[in-house]
Amino acid sequence: MTTSAVTLRSIHEQLHELAAINADPAAGGITREVFTEHYAEATAYVAARMRDAGLEVRVDAFGNLFGRLDGRDRTAAAVLTGSHIDTTLNAGAYDGVLGVLGPIEAIRALREGGWAPERPVEVVAFAGEEPRFGSGCLGSRALVGSLTRAELDTMRDRDGVSVAEAMRRVGLDPDRLEDVRLDLAGVHAFVELHIEQGGVLEAAGVPLGVVTGIAAPHDLRVRITGAAAHSGATPMALRRDAFAAAAEAAVALERLALASPSGSTVATAGVVHVGPGAINVIPGYAELHVDVRDHDLGARTTVIEGFRAELRAIAQRRGVDVAVDTITQDAPAVCGAVVVDAVRRACAELGQPSRDVISGAYHDAMVLGPHVPIGMIFVPSVGGVSHSPLEFTEPDDIDRGVLVLAATLRRLAA
Ligand code: GLV
Ligand code: MN
Ligand code: MN
Repeated sequence: MTTSAVTLRSIHEQLHELAAINADPAAGGITREVFTEHYAEATAYVAARMRDAGLEVRVDAFGNLFGRLDGRDRTAAAVLTGSHIDTTLNAGAYDGVLGVLGPIEAIRALREGGWAPERPVEVVAFAGEEPRFGSGCLGSRALVGSLTRAELDTMRDRDGVSVAEAMRRVGLDPDRLEDVRLDLAGVHAFVELHIEQGGVLEAAGVPLGVVTGIAAPHDLRVRITGAAAHSGATPMALRRDAFAAAAEAAVALERLALASPSGSTVATAGVVHVGPGAINVIPGYAELHVDVRDHDLGARTTVIEGFRAELRAIAQRRGVDVAVDTITQDAPAVCGAVVVDAVRRACAELGQPSRDVISGAYHDAMVLGPHVPIGMIFVPSVGGVSHSPLEFTEPDDIDRGVLVLAATLRRLAA
């Protein structure tokens, strides 16, 4: 059987149906954060699609959803594929979801064509890829054993709810974290189908990206304490304005990233809290959450160190106190040759042009990267837009991605 003989039923209705499971439709886009009612509904929806495709379904103690197809050799190390079905705030319908519905459809279509893999193949929807609690990829971190029980209490969302508390609210037991660990020796390879979320493929006019590496975040929380005082009665020279210090820091961060030695570092101050928040009070407190990413670890470190030095200078010049702590510090991932090669050959087999790309976004594949051979398949994002209600990928590009995934799974599971 060749993969081009595989007939895909449309996954487009499924993308549409899943997009309707949305906590905040009025605000635009899709909001479906992990450990919420809507997330549970989406999990049930995907579990039903897995059963339709003949997969054996289980949900682990962290809420990671698995659908397994046994191989002819049931004891062989499995091929894992998947992504996530949670979203960030007011997001798009494709990020993560394509990498969960896509492989279910790929496996269903392959089996209809008579395929029986040698190795087991398992589809996974990782819980909590988006950073509701500050760090992303919690489900995959739990699977590889890098998430601690203590972190489930200390990591909190924007309303102060801890991971443990959020888990309990949906009937999961945070004390069973140890049960979640995956036997990594039982994983042959991991491949994730995803939208590109950037504009490289579109600009190049190439429909498929073979991911060779994944940039990783180093995220900091910066707490600045100045002095709240009367905005009318306090002369400019006598102020310790925490927000002005934060604003200066944010602009310095941008300048440092632009001057990064790799040319690929990106830096964002995406969360800002200012207190007390009255128009006639000088801000006495400001907090920035800063996200710095690169696949070049040395360059990322240079930017982080430059930023820390800048913060010390700002503190001294403005007479404010600055405290910095790390939210997340991940290592960039290098994709495994066995997966990269399988994806390249799958594209060639289907006569589809592809090019190598680096992922600027992080993915659960990044977390699995140090433990098992990983790889990713990218399909174009129109306008390079993602994490936005405007996120869109052309239906033909989606079908192409699913077909390439099917051909890749066939190779990896042989
Ligand atoms: C994942 O959504 C990321 O922020 O890269
Ligand atoms: Mn995302
Ligand atoms: Mn994603």
